[in-house]
Amino acid sequence: MPMDLSLYPPNAAVDDGRLTLGGCHVADVAQEFGTPAYLIDAAGLRQRAREFQQALTSRHHRSRVMFASKSFPTPSVMGLIADTGCGLDVAGLGELLAAQRTGVDPAHVVLHGNAKSDAEIALAIEMGIGYIVVDNLDDVDRISRLATKPVPVLLRVSPAVDAETNAAMATGHDASKFGIPSHQITEVIERIRREPLLDLRGLHAHIGSQILNVDQFEQAVASLAQLERFDVYDLGGGLGIRYVPSDVAPSVEEYADRLVGAVHRHLGTDVELLIEPGRSMVGPNGVTVYRVTTVKRGVRTHVAVDGGMGDNLEVSLYGQPFDPAIIDKAGAFEVCDVVGRHCESGDTFVVAHELVEPEVGDLLVIPATGAYTFTMSNNYNGALRPPVVFCEDGVARVAVRRETYAELFGRDVRGG
Ligand code: LLP
Repeated sequence: MPMDLSLYPPNAAVDDGRLTLGGCHVADVAQEFGTPAYLIDAAGLRQRAREFQQALTSRHHRSRVMFASKSFPTPSVMGLIADTGCGLDVAGLGELLAAQRTGVDPAHVVLHGNAKSDAEIALAIEMGIGYIVVDNLDDVDRISRLATKPVPVLLRVSPAVDAETNAAMATGHDASKFGIPSHQITEVIERIRREPLLDLRGLHAHIGSQILNVDQFEQAVASLAQLERFDVYDLGGGLGIRYVPSDVAPSVEEYADRLVGAVHRHLGTDVELLIEPGRSMVGPNGVTVYRVTTVKRGVRTHVAVDGGMGDNLEVSLYGQPFDPAIIDKAGAFEVCDVVGRHCESGDTFVVAHELVEPEVGDLLVIPATGAYTFTMSNNYNGALRPPVVFCEDGVARVAVRRETYAELFGRDVRGG
């Protein structure tokens, strides 16, 4: 049976039985850079960034796509996206510094956070970023104290939408730790307006992540329209993607159609419109490649790879299903549990999954791992964080190299 590439990045192909990405044989890349490794379809990612911009600007002239850096916060990925014309949404000083390193115009940066420090607010002000998103009254105090000239801000509000997604990713309801609950919004707007150096330009709302029902974005817009009108609306990110063959996800066109349609109906045609896609930008353009380390045939068949919850927390944190495949191999399927190398049973990618005759040394690829894997990678069991490799036009180049043991122990006073 030919490999189903529908979950793979656009520049993935099977060439004479071997998986390629951006014209590079995945097996060669794995050989050169080791496993596990995050591989990015660099041209696919650029194309996706342009697709978002085109989808939005063709429907609404005053619009901007701000990549949600948190989904892949490294200057190489953020810079590749920013170079296509996108802005960057950052949360925290580390992401703000990463944005600075990309050379993006600071006017195209938005800062978020429900617990911002003085240091990040001070740097954001010094850089002259586009907007600081006020999340709470302490932000109001901090920005007023640190500002030396008027600072453009947006106010993050709860649109009171219960997003249909994992509870850990739903952020649009009134009990959320993010933003201002609906009954306090008017009061906080008045409070901001009493501060001479806070220049309130508009509202921000982000209802959650991995949203597959686009109606929910429309509901958020309708809810914002209950408030007074502003010049700027940042509607956050959230568009969901396919992880397994049975998933159905809205296209960027469909999303833009519904979102912009709702904005025009409820908020007007002249407002400045920002969106902050993260997962839907990078997710489909990344795969992770592993090597099979053990195959244990007991009560179940456990196929273990050389990574796991050290490089992918999606399964253990959110129960996210994935669709691993052994590559470059034909043969009969065997039903297996695909597990990681870490010391807990929760370190399982998928149970009762068909793999082609798994053997030690095989390469196993998991598609749709471009978002939130790199950023939440960790050193569980002393694992080294994997490299990020851009594959494009037949050339594989390292964007982030693999962590070293010297780095792993470098912060330890005894080991350092
Ligand atoms: N804007 C704001 C204010 C956000 O909080 C987020 C995501 C985004 C934009 C981007 O949302 P996206 O387009 O990626 O859905 N750690 C989880 C994801 C948490 C998302 C947090 N906020 C995961 O690994 O799936």
